[in-house]
Amino acid sequence: MPPDEGPSLRALMSSESASPYSRKNPFPATHPVNRRLSGEGSGKDTRHHEISLAGSGLSYEVGDSLGLFAANNPTLVSEVIAAIGATGEETVPGSDAVPKPLRAALTTDYVITQPSKEFLKALVERAGDAAGQLCDLASDPAQKKALEDYLWGLEFIDFLRGHPSVKWTAEEFVKTLRKLQPRLYSIASSLKANPEFVHLTVATVRYESHGRQREGVASTFLAERWPAGETAGVFIHTAKHFRLPEDPAAPVIMVGPGTGVAPFRAYLQERQVTGAPGRNWLFFGEQKRASDFLYESELTQLQSEGVLTRLDVAFSRDQAAKIYVQDRMRENARELWAWLEEGAHFYVCGDGARMAKDVDAELHRIAQTEGGKTPEEAAAYVEAMKKEKRYKKDVY
Ligand SMILES: Cc1cc2nc3c(=O)[nH]c(=O)nc-3n(C[C@H](O)[C@H](O)[C@H](O)COP(=O)(O)OP(=O)(O)OC[C@H]3O[C@@H](n4cnc5c(N)ncnc54)[C@H](O)[C@@H]3O)c2cc1C
Ligand SMILES: NC(=O)c1ccc[n+]([C@@H]2O[C@H](COP(=O)([O-])OP(=O)(O)OC[C@H]3O[C@@H](n4cnc5c(N)ncnc54)[C@H](OP(=O)(O)O)[C@@H]3O)[C@@H](O)[C@H]2O)c1
Repeated sequence: MPPDEGPSLRALMSSESASPYSRKNPFPATHPVNRRLSGEGSGKDTRHHEISLAGSGLSYEVGDSLGLFAANNPTLVSEVIAAIGATGEETVPGSDAVPKPLRAALTTDYVITQPSKEFLKALVERAGDAAGQLCDLASDPAQKKALEDYLWGLEFIDFLRGHPSVKWTAEEFVKTLRKLQPRLYSIASSLKANPEFVHLTVATVRYESHGRQREGVASTFLAERWPAGETAGVFIHTAKHFRLPEDPAAPVIMVGPGTGVAPFRAYLQERQVTGAPGRNWLFFGEQKRASDFLYESELTQLQSEGVLTRLDVAFSRDQAAKIYVQDRMRENARELWAWLEEGAHFYVCGDGARMAKDVDAELHRIAQTEGGKTPEEAAAYVEAMKKEKRYKKDVY
């Protein structure tokens, strides 16, 4: 190992052991900054959050994520308690088996939104034919997909209110529940640029289904239920597969539409603060330039300072036909290919269901059109990039 790499490795190893905090023992962090990034007229509520790690001894590398233990919305907790005819004072086992009041358990320990299999099974047993379509679908393994479609957008509260004649004691109900899991968020800051802080870029999940307003637990906890002075449990989730290149001179290409931009904001801060000489190219996409260009002023500033060598944006809803990040890749295929041939590392973050697949297909296409490869050779080229750890994804 070259002598100048020694201290950072030692620092990393000592920082890992310096903090007593982990997923099993989360740090009670504060949340001093909660700022809306989405502008007026946006269809989204995407926010910039800053969380203080002061006093924790925790450290992270760019590419890592933050784990957050969020609490359920107290209004929904009260609705569920009322729907089972309880008061909230009843003693029930918490998810760690330690007895606690029902209200506390439903707030912090259990999933009370998407219904569990155990709950649906118990409901069908108790309600019998009155469970209607649920009864038919749940009893036929061949109907798995139809059951999933039926359940999409339905929550505990719908079933509890829909079957008031089915009675549950607090303990019986709690026994059907799943443990509430922490949520992960890509870290949007470099610790070197923001000592003791973690920044996040979070899309608040809100939607309507079956005539009710619904919300995601952790994203709305961050947006609405974590005041600056209060604490919530956090931990660092290391992502060794999603690090910047070891060679600071290696070029990087980053594809991060929507909240997928988060880790790349961290990369750019890190490359700036460490004076890394490698070139940086970001593809960002969102719905509308006027309201959804997340971190626009920071990114254009980084571009004018030369840290961001190239910034290509795709606003999908500013014209009749959709324009996505992969369209911008195709328009710039020759240069993108040249960067890859010069050893650029290629990163993708954000939606894993559609975007990452389409970006991957475009990468294959560019290897064919610009690299003159057959589809099989293009696949081998992309595979080799993965093996060399030059193609890295963090998608969700
Ligand atoms: C490694 C990693 C990094 C991540 N980084 C980020 C990040 O930087 N920023 C970010 O915003 N997110 C990020 N996420 C996603 C994040 O972890 C959460 O999944 C997200 O915030 C939703 O969590 P929630 O608790 O708010 O919603 P939940 O309570 O988990 O609710 C989401 C659920 O609601 C239901 N649902 C959602 N929309 C609808 C709809 N329209 N109709 C019916 N049902 C619906 C679905 O069942 C869905 O699974 C990341 C995930 C991973 C794994
Ligand atoms: N698990 C969950 O509950 C949950 C909830 C919310 C979001 N998510 C995931 O988290 C991701 C991040 O959400 P976000 O709000 O930050 O942004 P996003 O939904 O990823 O949208 C960002 C941009 O990507 C565009 N886009 C849509 N499909 C695409 C494709 N196939 N290829 C390339 N670009 C595409 C969008 O365009 P259009 O919108 O105009 O098509 C928009 O301009 C989402 O994609 C979603 O999958 C998950």
